Amino acid sequence: MTEIHEAVRLHYAQAALGVLNGESCCSDDGQYGSELYSALEREGLPDAAVMASLGCGNPIAVAELHEGERVLDLGSGGGIDVLLSAKRVGPTGRAFGLDMTDEMLALAQRNAAEAGATNVEFLKGHIEAIPLPAASIDVVISNCVVNLAADKPAVFREIARVLRPGGRIGITDIVADDSLTAQQRAERGSYTGCVAGALTFSEFRTGLEAIGLADVSLTVSHQVADGMYSAIVKATKPVAAAAEGAVEGAAAVEGAVAASARSAAQPSCCCGGSCG
Ligand SMILES: C[S@@+](CC[C@H](N)C(=O)[O-])C[C@H]1O[C@@H](n2cnc3c(N)ncnc32)[C@H](O)[C@@H]1O
Repeated sequence: MTEIHEAVRLHYAQAALGVLNGESCCSDDGQYGSELYSALEREGLPDAAVMASLGCGNPIAVAELHEGERVLDLGSGGGIDVLLSAKRVGPTGRAFGLDMTDEMLALAQRNAAEAGATNVEFLKGHIEAIPLPAASIDVVISNCVVNLAADKPAVFREIARVLRPGGRIGITDIVADDSLTAQQRAERGSYTGCVAGALTFSEFRTGLEAIGLADVSLTVSHQVADGMYSAIVKATKPVAAAAEGAVEGAAAVEGAVAASARSAAQPSCCCGGSCG
């Protein structure tokens, strides 16, 4: 566990405890949280799952899940995307949520029980070391968590490892203009608030290509700060995956992460937002 892990864990433990105590976690400003889901999606979920939504997008809307698929949500928080995935993949599929924060896992378990979801499983661990076998997952999703990771190249390597050949990712995350230095990203928001640790578009693309993913696309969904956006990230693992090579790309991402981690800024309640 690194210093970044500990700072992030403490921050999100507090957010989870708030929801477990019946408080709203974040203000809904249209940039983060439950407003990014349709009314129909929100209606079928426990209130606490909706209240605990801390993401910057809606990965379910982009991941095109099918009946019978196995989905993994990296940094599953209160479980909103796991529960929505579980509905899409149905009883023959399975939705896994991975999170390092005990309080979030407790909240997610409670929400899954309330929703009556039987095809879900919440795992404790770091997204830099996913506790699942290789080639065991059809789709990796994530909502505003890659930016929080202490070791982004490790996250990308782990995504490539757990995806089956032909598998895909549908991720939403904060991404910065290529022109923004790590220092400039940190000036726009804190690390725990999902801003300072964001990769640039080039760093994100290079990181995914470095571990052999193909058809990489990054599409801006909305702006969250000057030169920083919520973006939809898609890619596929080729059927004949050649995961070697492109070490340079991983090294570039590593450098950027180290710089942004050094310059963590002002505190905020959760992803980008203030306490609501
Ligand atoms: C911004 S919240 C997003 C939660 C959820 N995806 C959502 O949309 O509501 C970040 C979550 O990721 C978890 N997290 C952050 N870094 C992590 C890491 N390196 N490994 C595992 N979980 C992590 C936190 O505990 C927290 O629950």
